Amino acid sequence: MDGELKFNLADYGEGALGQLEQAVNSNWTSGNGHFTKEVHAFFKAEFGLEGLLTHSCTAALEMMALLLDLQPGDEVIVPSFTFVSTATAFDLHGARLVFADSDPQYPNLSLDSIKAVVTERTKAVCVVHYAGAGHEMEEIRDWLAARDIVFLEDAAQAVGATYSTRSGATLPLGRWGAASSMSFHETKNVACGQGGALFIGRDDWKERSMALWEKGTNRQAFFLGLVDKYGWVDKGSSFLASDITAALLHSQLIRWKEIHERRMAIWNRYDAGLRPLEAEGRMACMRIPPNSGHNAHMYYLLLPGFEARAALMKHLKSLGIQSTFHYQSLHRSPYVLRTMGEQPDCPHSDRYSDGLLRLPLHLKLSDADVDRVIDGVRRFFTA
Ligand SMILES: Cc1ncc(COP(=O)(O)O)c(C=O)c1O
Repeated sequence: MDGELKFNLADYGEGALGQLEQAVNSNWTSGNGHFTKEVHAFFKAEFGLEGLLTHSCTAALEMMALLLDLQPGDEVIVPSFTFVSTATAFDLHGARLVFADSDPQYPNLSLDSIKAVVTERTKAVCVVHYAGAGHEMEEIRDWLAARDIVFLEDAAQAVGATYSTRSGATLPLGRWGAASSMSFHETKNVACGQGGALFIGRDDWKERSMALWEKGTNRQAFFLGLVDKYGWVDKGSSFLASDITAALLHSQLIRWKEIHERRMAIWNRYDAGLRPLEAEGRMACMRIPPNSGHNAHMYYLLLPGFEARAALMKHLKSLGIQSTFHYQSLHRSPYVLRTMGEQPDCPHSDRYSDGLLRLPLHLKLSDADVDRVIDGVRRFFTA
């Protein structure tokens, strides 16, 4: 057997060490130093996203929850098929969670799945751009705006992804809602070990988000010369990332186009090799929602259920290929059942929980490695 093909391998490249050395020797290794500002400037220039680097996407989601100023009884709709942080952030800061089901065609929420659970207590909806692809963004944004419900985006996987409007305008994901979060965890397209960002679309949230970021103080206003001393003005926490983290992230961002192009090439190779197997109906290849410019964050297959997926995973493992499932429906999680009781069914979320299988996708895969995975999957279905 050839060497094991890992599901994920971070690739920091040669430039990373130089940037890290510069950060370490800069005499400003805590948050909001030179590299943090470089990261902020990159997102503004490249994607029009204005925001703050955080120590994780989870932290950014918690900042969103604080910005909502949740009152007792306020409901926040989140997908059942998501990472726990999309839900824990709002739960921690006082929301009553409501779980919406995935679209039958895509793991993302749809406008219909949101409409099915919205009530007069709905304060906000946080969608997740699963696999770095948006779904029904314009429809959801407009419908929520007409009802004064805050639209939030968990764009953890969506760096560099876009979505186009009916009139043909293309906007990066992360710029559709009142605020969005991103992750730069080592499994993401651009990574720094552990890191994230909060991006703010609403003008009236910008100043407040800076205080939340800096432990509830107006330290930013002080640095900007707007006040002559700083103090405690709001809720907050230490949501910043260190400038060492920012330097590592910056070394990835300056290679972002090269990273994106290589990931897209791998994604397209998988798709060309695996799509013909769909015809037999024993599995489905991942689908990209219409109008979505995805970022090749992952390539997944959808098997009919848990047992078929386990059998394919076992087969791939025997060939030295790591594959992995993903989120488990939150509406059926032990915490939710214990604290909120039985929840309405989310059958599509359960289908993705049981049947979705992710294949290796990272920059250390050669074309030959990708072909080896395709061949392994093909052999399973044609044996
Ligand atoms: C949809 C989603 N939201 C939030 C997170 C949490 O990201 P982080 O590890 O940066 O806190 C993840 C992690 O993978 C995720 O997939």
